[in-house]
Amino acid sequence: MAIVVTGGAGFIGSNFALDWLARSDERVVNLDALTYAGNLQTLAPLANDPRHVFVQGDIRDRALVGRLLADHRPRSIVHFAAESHVDRSIHGPGAFVRTNVEGTFTLLEAARAYWGGLEGDAKRDFRFLHVSTDEVYGSLGKDDAPFTETHPYEPNSPYSASKAASDHLVRAWHHTYGVPVLTTNCSNNYGPYQFPEKLIPLMIVNALAGKPLPIYGDGMNVRDWLYVTDHCSGIRRVLEAGTVGETYNIGGWNEMPNLQIVHTLCDLLDELHPNPAGSYRRLITYVKDRPGHDRRYAIDARKIERELGWRPAESFATGIRKTVQWYLDHPQWVADVQSGAYREWVAANYGAR
Ligand code: NAD
Ligand code: TYD
Repeated sequence: MAIVVTGGAGFIGSNFALDWLARSDERVVNLDALTYAGNLQTLAPLANDPRHVFVQGDIRDRALVGRLLADHRPRSIVHFAAESHVDRSIHGPGAFVRTNVEGTFTLLEAARAYWGGLEGDAKRDFRFLHVSTDEVYGSLGKDDAPFTETHPYEPNSPYSASKAASDHLVRAWHHTYGVPVLTTNCSNNYGPYQFPEKLIPLMIVNALAGKPLPIYGDGMNVRDWLYVTDHCSGIRRVLEAGTVGETYNIGGWNEMPNLQIVHTLCDLLDELHPNPAGSYRRLITYVKDRPGHDRRYAIDARKIERELGWRPAESFATGIRKTVQWYLDHPQWVADVQSGAYREWVAANYGAR
């Protein structure tokens, strides 16, 4: 038996592949284009593991995807591959439409053809699990109820619009063609192996380098934070027991304003890696806000709890401590991802703020 994972060299996909193979011997066929966000070093523990087959390629390559499905006969596809960073989507939305919309379309077409050719139990049990985000629901006011699965789609950034479009395609491929899909909409993830362009790893990496900690706007935008291995366990649970055609929100029950996140990171670094120059909080710097910056995301994760019995295992206190410790323990991983392309991105996004 095998599953195909797309985007399995990225942050969540690599955590998922490592986690999956720590629990099961079922083969993972990992299709990833290795964009700036893909990192084979993260998958190094699987380099000589016959249960892991890495294929460098684009999800938009229909012939490649078709061949991969025909060769490996997976029972499921877990689709992580995406352009995932809101700030990059503001600077260059084209790649988001190409990968998130066109790429998901191509994958769905390949899955439809493959599933159409299956028979018996293999056909009944096949699943296409699409990994999406809470950002498709738009922005909440301070007192609004958290997002449920029936919240209207109101995406505001090129990233969330492209993910919303992909969710709609997935839905339509089920309703029109019967492809057995599952969709998960998750809140902000954090944990080991996250590329230091997103809030938490960027702040840790900058703090350790003595660089400013750039807070967009007033720092009071709220996100719900989920430890990445909890996201992985939620996806495994949906894959195992989710009802075909349904959507499941996955969240950490942990809403927090950005400033509070950054204070927590500074305090942990002060404890675990004190700097003689003083608290890392001294590096906090307010910068120009992100255009169209969504004010608040919050997930109502009661459906997955009620129907599938899933809840996150980590609290924010335990998850964030593990995360900070992981970045302290892996300076080489951090140094290696800070390539010339990374430095160009930092200059493009922060230089003019
Ligand atoms: P990431 O940016 O770290 O990784 C994305 C991976 O996809 C990379 O390895 C990249 O090489 C690969 N990729 C990009 N374009 C590709 C293409 N055309 N063909 C094949 N591979 C391609 O992203 P992530 O944070 O791991 O997110 C994974 C998924 O989870 C995404 O779909 C994202 O929308 C969703 N999600 C992320 C979060 C979060 O907080 N990070 C929250 C909710 C949902
Ligand atoms: P991010 O990690 O990019 O995730 P998303 O935008 O998908 O939620 O950002 C999380 C929050 O942190 C968001 O409100 C923007 C804010 N932020 C900063 O204040 N400074 C930064 O340098 C970054 C990258 C994000």
